[in-house]
Amino acid sequence: LEKDLVIAIDGPAGAGKSTVAKIIAERLGYIYIDTGAMYRALTLKVLNQAYDLEDEKKLGTLAENTDIKLVKAGEDNLVLLDGEDVTAEIRDNKVSNNVSVVAKVAKVREEMVKLQRQMAQSGGVVMDGRDIGTVVLPDADIKIFLTASVEERAQRRYDELIDKGEDVDLEQIKGEIIRRDDIDKNREVAPLTEAEDAIYVDTTKLDIGQVVEEILNICQEV
Ligand code: CDP
Ligand code: CDP
Repeated sequence: LEKDLVIAIDGPAGAGKSTVAKIIAERLGYIYIDTGAMYRALTLKVLNQAYDLEDEKKLGTLAENTDIKLVKAGEDNLVLLDGEDVTAEIRDNKVSNNVSVVAKVAKVREEMVKLQRQMAQSGGVVMDGRDIGTVVLPDADIKIFLTASVEERAQRRYDELIDKGEDVDLEQIKGEIIRRDDIDKNREVAPLTEAEDAIYVDTTKLDIGQVVEEILNICQEV
């Protein structure tokens, strides 16, 4: 590639964003920024401190006073919450099922977006989330809207949890994904939606390698 690109990848849960974004960043020597991990880290703190999820003012203040860092340690991308490694914990289903409620608070988003823009300043970044192409990095060189059928996305998340040894039910996972997507799409601030200039990629019938190749081809064309 002739220059360091800024690549934004948005889409619903289980579309393959983080898996694909991470591989693309490795292949291009770019940094990968997982914005969902930031909302998850804050949500973990909210749950651990037994905050009232309805108290938006308190959640906003908490976001201002929380230190969230994404650091690369060899192959791994670590998530630090107030200096503590929470990389594994933020994937718990309890966090997944509460994160959208925290992420719809305007002040929370303001704080996270500020951090995300700072991290992307250098260029040569792949950032994934829900509002990257629309709000966080509207001038991104490449915007991808990655999606797949809800059945496929639920199946992927199910397989992942089964692999981790968790006892889960496919229909329940599907219901949780539908609920989370619904909150993300219908919130007032920065809802999940396709940017006008995004390229739509349906991954329902594609494996990870095929999606990576498709996006790298798009990068070559730019
Ligand atoms: O990986 P998964 O699709 O389960 O979700 P994630 O990317 O880790 O994001 C978790 C949640 O954080 C989403 O469901 C959104 O509620 C929120 N989020 C957001 O609001 N904006 C972003 N840019 C990224 C995540
Ligand atoms: O970040 P997001 O929620 O969009 O999805 P992910 O966490 O990257 O992917 C969810 C799961 O689906 C992972 O276990 C991936 O390995 C898997 N996946 C897949 O099977 N086929 C794809 N084309 C993309 C992801």
